[in-house]
Order: sequence, then C-alpha cells, then structure tokens
Amino acid sequence: MSDKKIFVLVLYNHVGEDEYEKLKQVDESQLDFEPEYPIQVATVREEYAALVKALRREGFMAGALNLEDDISKLEALIRRRPPDVIFNLVEHFRDEPALEANVAGLLELHHIPYTGAPPFSLTLCQRKGLTKQLLMANGIPTPRYRLLHTPEMPRRHGLRYPLIVKPAREDASSGVEKSSVVQNLEQLEARLKAVFEEYSPPILVEEFIEGRELHVSILGNDPPEVLPIIEWDFSELPPDHPPIISYAVKWDPLEEVYHRVHSFCPAKLSRAALRRVKEVAIKAYRVTGCRDYARLDIRLAKRAVPYVLDVNPNPDLTEGVSFMESAEAAGYSFSQTLRRIVELALERRDEDC
Ligand SMILES: Nc1ncnc2c1ncn2[C@@H]1O[C@H](COP(=O)(O)OP(=O)(O)O)[C@@H](O)[C@H]1O
Ligand SMILES: [Mg+2]
Repeated sequence: MSDKKIFVLVLYNHVGEDEYEKLKQVDESQLDFEPEYPIQVATVREEYAALVKALRREGFMAGALNLEDDISKLEALIRRRPPDVIFNLVEHFRDEPALEANVAGLLELHHIPYTGAPPFSLTLCQRKGLTKQLLMANGIPTPRYRLLHTPEMPRRHGLRYPLIVKPAREDASSGVEKSSVVQNLEQLEARLKAVFEEYSPPILVEEFIEGRELHVSILGNDPPEVLPIIEWDFSELPPDHPPIISYAVKWDPLEEVYHRVHSFCPAKLSRAALRRVKEVAIKAYRVTGCRDYARLDIRLAKRAVPYVLDVNPNPDLTEGVSFMESAEAAGYSFSQTLRRIVELALERRDEDC
C-alpha cells in the first residue's frame, strides 16, 4: 500500500427511530421466559460504528455516511472528497427496497468502486419468483411454487402440503410467521387473506421443504470461496412454531422463540452432501450475478438434495452473525473479512464501473 491511506466510506440509509434503542430500557427480570441471548442487541448506529472501527484497524481511512433518504448528501461528499471505495450497505431508499439497486447504479455512474453486488443482481434477488425461474432454468433445485397476484389459489395447483406462504418481494423474514406454514386448503386460504392484506403482491406459495436449514456464505469472485456452513437447530422451538426462521426468531429478542433457535458452524455434513451444497451454492451465486460476498439460504432435503430458498446479495455483516460467523470459522477475523471485501471492490477500480 502507498503512504496515502485508502479512504473507505461506509454508506447506509437509515431513517426514523432505531428500534433497538428501545431495548436498552427493557428490564429482563420482567420477561416471562428465560432469555438465552442478550436482549440489548447493537443499535444501527453501533453496528456501523463497529464496521468503521474495524476498517481503521486494517489501516484504512474510514468514515460512515447515513443517507437519511437524501441522495444530495452523497453527491456533496463525492464533490468534496470522493472516496476511493464505498462500502455499500444501502438496502432501501424512501422505504423502497427496489431503490437499493439505484444507489449502486449511481455509484457506477460516478466511477466509484463499491463493495458487493451490482444493480442487476440486487434487483433480481428481490424478486423471488424471477430468481426461482432462473435457478430452475439452470438446474438448481428450488422448492416448487406458485406466484399469486390475487388471494385465490388455483384449485388444481399441483403443490404438495405442507406449503409456506411468503411475500415475493420482501426479505429478512418479513411476513414469515408461524402461521406461514399451512397444512391444508383452509389454512392456506386464511393465510393468503392475511398476507394480501398486509403485503403487496406477488405472493409466493411454496412447497415446504422438511429438512436441515443451512446458511451458506460465499466470499470472493475468482473463484468464489464457500465458507464453513452454518446449520440451524430448531429442536427447542415450542410445538406451535414450525422449524423456520420467522421474523420473531430472526429479529425480536423480546419473543421467546428468538432464544430457542440456535446456530452452529460448521454443519456436520457427509462429504457427498457438502460437495453438493457447495456446488449448488456457487452455481446459484454465479447465475444470480452475486459479487464479492453473499449468503444462500438452503434446505437440505431427503437424499441430500440442496434446495435454494433464498439468495442474499450483500448480506448482514454484523459481527458474530451468519456471514461473519462463517468467515470467523474460516479463520478470517471480523476486520480481515471487511478488508477482503474492500480489496475485492478495489480490484474493479480501473474497470468501467
Ligand atoms: N420452502 C421452504 N421450506 C422450508 N422453509 C422455508 C421455505 N421458505 C422459507 N422457509 C423458512 O423461512 C425463512 C425465511 O424465508 P426466505 O425464503 O429465506 O425469505 P427471506 O428473504 O425473508 O429471508 C427461511 O430461512 C426458512 O426458515
Ligand atoms: Mg432468507
């Protein structure tokens, strides 16, 4: 590295209250269950501060910018002092996940290298139906499904129960609850009615894959490296909660189920299963145009068939969580992983975009 430090700008977009700020006030002794994990999870601000600190530890000059839905803040900064590279952690704009890709597009127009997936991949993976079509066309197993634009399920749908109902253009388990898994037509119709009231179509009705849930993180491009795989243990969930990562399981420390699901790494897989999971994960990463880093949510069904449920470009990089848990199991520290992602983006410095 030359004497001049590389300037990395961590770019994100957060508006409104920080829900996790409120958790600081919670009195744990008032909970009616025994929490296993801390209730006080890091706030949004603390998480980005941790990233900046880690990047500085790696010798970069680093700062963070919260767009707060105002793109002129970025334009002003680019005019004043263009960063050498942007750590792009923007996930939505004006509350619209679909605008995520436009921010990456803007960085391309400015010729600023940025981390993670290009606009095409960000847009594609937000459309679960389209992504599934592409996966299937490439021989990558994904659960059979129907995409609905109205709450009526065709009578001869040909899918086998149990089914799972989920919004097709949401992520992070939004709209995935314990009642999302349905066993018969009556439950399906009730769930469709509820989901259509809350979410915009299309809605995905998918065959529920019984089996082990794996989170497969990938780092790099040429070639991509599959990091040690995480497996989820749902065995402590109460019987009324299906074995899934529902919204409450993923995000809400005030819900008991959040404390009853555990992950471990590496997943214990036979050599053959590991090979198939890796193969499918890399293929899915490539065909969806992911870049630098991504996480695939996979269910390993009978006869070790790995079904791709979800492709996540630019997954959460919180220390100790999913992607970073896998990276750490591979021997990369939190800050080394961030450095690696920055370096991958810097390799594109002289490219057109
Ligand atoms: N077809 C399916 N079979 C079994 N479980 C599923 C299926 N689809 C989703 N799930 C469960 O719901 C969770 C969230 O669904 P996912 O497709 O990953 O959407 P999101 O984009 O919200 O993360 C998964 O991690 C998994 O636990
Ligand atoms: Mg997912």
